[in-house]
Amino acid sequence: MKNFYLTTAIDYANGSPHIGHAYEKVLADAIVRSRRMEGIPCHFLTGLDEHGQKVQETAERRGLAPQELCDSVALDFQNLCRRLSIGYDDYIRTTEQRHKTVVQNLLQQLHDAGEIYRAPYRGLYSTRAERFVQEREMVNGRWPDDIGEVVEVEETNYFFRLSRHREWLIAFLEKNKNFVVPAFRQRQVLEFLREPLNDLCISRPKVRLRWGIELPFDPDYVTYVWFDALVNYISAVGHGTEAFSQNWPADLHVIGKDILVPAHAVYWPIILHAVGMELPRQILAHGWWLAKGGEKMSKSLGNAVQPLDYAELYGPDAFRYFVLREMTLGQDSNFSHELFLARYRGDLANELGNLLSRLVHMVHRYCGGRFPAAGAAGEEERHLQNLAAETVRIARGFYGNLEFSSALESIFSLLKAANRYAELRAPWKLAREEGRTSELARALATLGEALRIAAGLLIPAIPTAAETILQRIGAGPVADWRNLAWSDALAGAEVGDEVILFPRVEEEDALSPL
Ligand code: MSP
Repeated sequence: MKNFYLTTAIDYANGSPHIGHAYEKVLADAIVRSRRMEGIPCHFLTGLDEHGQKVQETAERRGLAPQELCDSVALDFQNLCRRLSIGYDDYIRTTEQRHKTVVQNLLQQLHDAGEIYRAPYRGLYSTRAERFVQEREMVNGRWPDDIGEVVEVEETNYFFRLSRHREWLIAFLEKNKNFVVPAFRQRQVLEFLREPLNDLCISRPKVRLRWGIELPFDPDYVTYVWFDALVNYISAVGHGTEAFSQNWPADLHVIGKDILVPAHAVYWPIILHAVGMELPRQILAHGWWLAKGGEKMSKSLGNAVQPLDYAELYGPDAFRYFVLREMTLGQDSNFSHELFLARYRGDLANELGNLLSRLVHMVHRYCGGRFPAAGAAGEEERHLQNLAAETVRIARGFYGNLEFSSALESIFSLLKAANRYAELRAPWKLAREEGRTSELARALATLGEALRIAAGLLIPAIPTAAETILQRIGAGPVADWRNLAWSDALAGAEVGDEVILFPRVEEEDALSPL
């Protein structure tokens, strides 16, 4: 069976990881985990984009060889993944031989097919975007931030015949309405395609840029950044080998909105089409995390969120939960410390963490550390059971549609209902009264089962905490949502030690610039 093959953008090796990189990987990881819970085998790729002018310049500035810089940045990014429980299956680096070989084979193939030609070119070049730009990309007479400063350049280069595939791409997008999600992003692609396309400059003379993959048909040139970077999606899974069809076509490319048009939604499908390869099945373009006031985050403005600081202070699951809960798919979101704290204290510490500690405490205190059997259900119990069944159904649906915020909202509604039930039944009072043992047993067993189901559904978002919950209530692992249903699985289960999952954090002022 082919894997569900999911990729993220590969990060530029010229900086350190920030919230955008962290968010994208958390999102991708949560998607993969949710697919696995449906019994779908997955392959999850992420990696590092190591060539290009900026890496060469940063390395020079720091007195390092470019490869040395990349090696140290790769460690930073891999460390970020480890700290955030990002369980990738493969990490591609574009300086690896397995990648270079595929890039060169692909270029040769396109050259042989007459899709690449050599020509002199005079144009406006943006170092920040690492591409030639066109005047029509100016906004109100100014270059937007992602293009930045532009200089006029004239040189002979190699070009890919992008323009000849425009009609094909339009027809493809009209037929495949969900190629890009959310839908408004696909409309932006079609909008871009209304104007004729320029052919794509795919090379840089080595005199200007040494740090790149050499063109197989001209050793004086290296490939231009996108032609190198995009190919990672096929080089990492063994393009040209038998294993390739185990993964390709990719099921989902997860990327940010800034690299959708033209790179992922125009260049990439056309490159693949030009060599007769299958296209990826879908591209998800997520929005951006902005600083509290809605402005772009940047190191120089001092408003950038350091994901690892959050993971350090509040735990990786708190960071994961926050970004998945707060970001509506495809939209931008503001990162505010107050909002983070509200989610941390309200949802995670109160609704979830408290329920676990209270429950484990009561099972120890009133039942000798083992869950009792539930016995016959009353009306309140049936209500919670129905809500749990409904939540399993709804949350699976939301996860399937990549609507994480809504999935988490529905799971927390179940937790809130469980907490209300706890207040209503007040097992701590029942324990003090004569002859109410069976009611006490029923209340504790019902709470345990509601928590087991909620924890099972929370696995993609907060894998470590969800596992701790399941262990502490003595439940077996939840590995497959298709058989996650209300049961008396906990009857007789031994609970673990009491634990505070999301403790109060004293030094939180350390993060206060937000
Ligand atoms: N190297 C290219 C991608 C090549 S993919 C074949 C690149 N790298 S990047 O490091 O600049 O960005 C990596 C990813 O992080 C992109 O998908 C980008 O959209 C995302 N983000 C960067 N900043 C972001 C935010 N502030 N918020 C959310 N994601 C953003 O582009």
